[in-house]
Amino acid sequence: MTEEFGKDFWEQRYRGHTAPRVRQPNAQLVAEAAALAPGAALDAGCGEGADARWLAGRGWRVTAVDIAAAALEHAREQAEMSGAEAAERIDWVEADLTTWVPPADHFDLVSTHYVHAAASREALFGRLAAAVAPGGTLLVVGHHPSGHGTAAVHGAPREVHFTAEEIAADLDAARWEIVVAEARTRSVTGHGGQELTLEDAVLRARKRP
Ligand SMILES: C[S@@+](CC[C@H](N)C(=O)[O-])C[C@H]1O[C@@H](n2cnc3c(N)ncnc32)[C@H](O)[C@@H]1O
Repeated sequence: MTEEFGKDFWEQRYRGHTAPRVRQPNAQLVAEAAALAPGAALDAGCGEGADARWLAGRGWRVTAVDIAAAALEHAREQAEMSGAEAAERIDWVEADLTTWVPPADHFDLVSTHYVHAAASREALFGRLAAAVAPGGTLLVVGHHPSGHGTAAVHGAPREVHFTAEEIAADLDAARWEIVVAEARTRSVTGHGGQELTLEDAVLRARKRP
């Protein structure tokens, strides 16, 4: 993890939001998980919880982990506003993914989006992959290194970017089937209200039963 993306960085970022913003789920999650049968999901680096809420609304039981207490406060508020039934399906966990070890072979879906891990990336994704149950899905989405606008919007240095192929290369081919490994664009509204196109790295893999 680069120093600048430690707990203090994220706490400050979320404390800076005076009112929690109601966010939509990530487009890549919707594209990749909409057809999956609900089960147990881990959202690693859940931020303000839009993806966890979307999964819970579709019947998943979600463990949503983030290092920032402020993000989890906003996430809880928004989940409660969006309906008690779905909110009850989410467990919010404050933990540092660089050290937190999820239960092995446990989750039907492990989803992680834009967790800015650098030096710790390989080990972190290794632990997340180990947490996928046999037959389950690993979905990793990050900023692609060639993504126009990514650095301008997020200020993220090169080392937190990756390609899907780089992540796929760390998975044991005997244990994993790569379903999707590609770069994909996504439209977002920038802080100044301008429309931006960002490039994502999307890896979806299935752990062989
Ligand atoms: C760019 S945000 C993405 C949030 C959310 N996944 C999304 O797609 O909107 C990165 C998130 O990862 C969390 N995060 C970063 N490093 C972490 C770590 N070591 N352990 C747990 N969460 C972490 C941050 O607090 C932040 O909420």
